[in-house]
Amino acid sequence: MRLPRSVRDADVAGKTVLVRADLNVPLEDGRVADDTRIRASLPTLELLLENGAAEVRVCSHLGRPKTDEDRARYAIAPVAARLAELLPDGRIRVLENTRFDPGETQNDEGYARELAAGCNVYVNDAFGSAHRAHSSTEAVAHLLPAYAGLLLLDELEHLGRLLGDVERPFVLVAGGAKVEDKVGVLQHLGGRADTVLVGGKMAEELRDDNPLGFPVELPVDVVAAAAFAADAETQVVPYDAVPAGWRGLDIGPATATRFGEIVRGARTIFWNGPMGVFEWPRFAAGTNAVARAVADADAYSVVGGGDSVRAVNEAGLAGEVSWVSTGGGASLELLEGRELPGVAAIPC
Ligand code: 3PG
Ligand code: MG
Repeated sequence: MRLPRSVRDADVAGKTVLVRADLNVPLEDGRVADDTRIRASLPTLELLLENGAAEVRVCSHLGRPKTDEDRARYAIAPVAARLAELLPDGRIRVLENTRFDPGETQNDEGYARELAAGCNVYVNDAFGSAHRAHSSTEAVAHLLPAYAGLLLLDELEHLGRLLGDVERPFVLVAGGAKVEDKVGVLQHLGGRADTVLVGGKMAEELRDDNPLGFPVELPVDVVAAAAFAADAETQVVPYDAVPAGWRGLDIGPATATRFGEIVRGARTIFWNGPMGVFEWPRFAAGTNAVARAVADADAYSVVGGGDSVRAVNEAGLAGEVSWVSTGGGASLELLEGRELPGVAAIPC
């Protein structure tokens, strides 16, 4: 795989460095619920500080803000506060959520110029956003000397292993809510995996209409809830017996057992996306079962995506997984064999 040039080779002494990190972390009650991505961005920031950068401007998107009210909900402040706790240094400055500027997702050059203004070097360490051709990940890389951060490089190396000759069976587990992002990508990945297990919201959509062109294993039972609420009344039912007006919020125990067996038998695993609304403990069993199975397997195992990573961390299993990726969609697209725009924009 083509590796972009490393931040280790950048001369940053006395310079102002713009760093695009992926600090798109889950929030709860206005606080950072999982700081994995913030921690993962520290090595590059520390390297820049050690190498004498005069100022390090960190930028990231947070969430998918659309309305004016979203500006309060997705303000970067809680993320900046957590970063300042982890790495207190007066030379670090965190810019506001890049997606508050309408130009960002258009890969607008005007917004890229604003970001680049006053900076001498650009470092992209946002692996999780490298599949987005946005101003802060793509356009800006053409305006400043651009380098890859340490996390971005690490991710490319670890995920790249899944693109080579993998040990089989290779099991792919997919779930989560960003269905529209994933179906197309899964389509291309299917040929590489021996078995594809699908849970969560995506399973419902694939059951109605599987456009993938290969079979996937879908849940046989679900934990159905009378309402979309943490304390809703629940029953375990076969997938096709969800009472009218109820909805499946987790895979059921029979599915969890079956998925667990398949995962335990794998030699290579890639898992992206939770099996249900695991943030609510009563709907977390399926996701936790998958996390446990991934950890138990004697396999090269990679977990990607903010929610699955959070599940692995909360279960205390991160140390038993070969590589915990900070990328969700980015890791899927990389595994699909696509060039990531945020990587392609950095010279070798
Ligand atoms: C992610 O969480 O997958 C990345 O931060 C990218 O976010 P996005 O899917 O909203 O572009
Ligand atoms: Mg994503």
